[in-house]
Amino acid sequence: MTTTRKIILKLGGSVITVKNKPYTPRVKTIKNIAFQLRNLIHEGHIELVGIVVGGGSYGHFTVSEFYGEKNYPYSEALYRITTSMTELALLVSDILAMYNIYTVIFPPHSFCKPRGIKPHCKWDYIDSFLSKNTVPLIYGDIYPCNSEWGFCIVSGDELALEAACHAKATLVVFVTDVDGIYDSEMKLIRKIHIDCLESLIGEAKDVNKGIDVTGGMERKLTAIKKIKCTSLKHIIVVNGLKKDLLYRALKNEDVPLTLIEL
Ligand SMILES: Nc1ncnc2c1ncn2[C@@H]1O[C@H](COP(=O)(O)OP(=O)(O)O)[C@@H](O)[C@H]1O
Ligand SMILES: [Mg+2]
Repeated sequence: MTTTRKIILKLGGSVITVKNKPYTPRVKTIKNIAFQLRNLIHEGHIELVGIVVGGGSYGHFTVSEFYGEKNYPYSEALYRITTSMTELALLVSDILAMYNIYTVIFPPHSFCKPRGIKPHCKWDYIDSFLSKNTVPLIYGDIYPCNSEWGFCIVSGDELALEAACHAKATLVVFVTDVDGIYDSEMKLIRKIHIDCLESLIGEAKDVNKGIDVTGGMERKLTAIKKIKCTSLKHIIVVNGLKKDLLYRALKNEDVPLTLIEL
């Protein structure tokens, strides 16, 4: 008998877009992920309680265009950044619907009020949708704040962790473009306890080929390290570019990935 795990899935910008090519989605990859998720749901392996879409070459790119500019037109920046992420969220939502996974998009700028690294979203807004078998879809976003720059960013990684706590998920899955977390010798870490993550922070070598305004793997690790959540038992970082790795990972097959134990 299989046990159904309640999961939050974060689709990294590195996997659903070509991170160094502005506004370039990987449509085939998103379809393949949706196909795997549909099978996992139908076979009773997972209950999907939230999907988080990362910025990739949409959000991260538009933010980088305005970052540091002293005379940027503020209203235009907010317009461009929020719409670029809404477009990516809509694309992912449309593709998921083709595979009978129906999502409702919740723009974080309209229900979150971040403080520091914590998104502070009003998660109870989305509960009634969950009870109707729709999956809330949220995304890395931007909102006006009192920083020097005038904007603050709410990162998809931090949203995924906070959403998981609220929904009492037992597992957060970070789908990305690498097999997991590598150590300083570029060896894949197969399993690590959260208390040992500290040693990796600062080691995270950037083998990345794109913009990540929220700090890439390093900030992900920092956010994971800070999470205090009793329901959450595991976090996995898995490669979403490979054909059926996500499916096999969530069926508990022994595939290359990083498992973080909490
Ligand atoms: N120690 C590390 N292990 C794995 N990936 C790393 C590491 N350090 C940096 N990276 C880079 O982090 C990228 C993933 O960044 P991340 O922001 O987590 O992705 P996403 O935004 O798609 O979730 C990988 O493409 C890789 O190049
Ligand atoms: Mg990232």
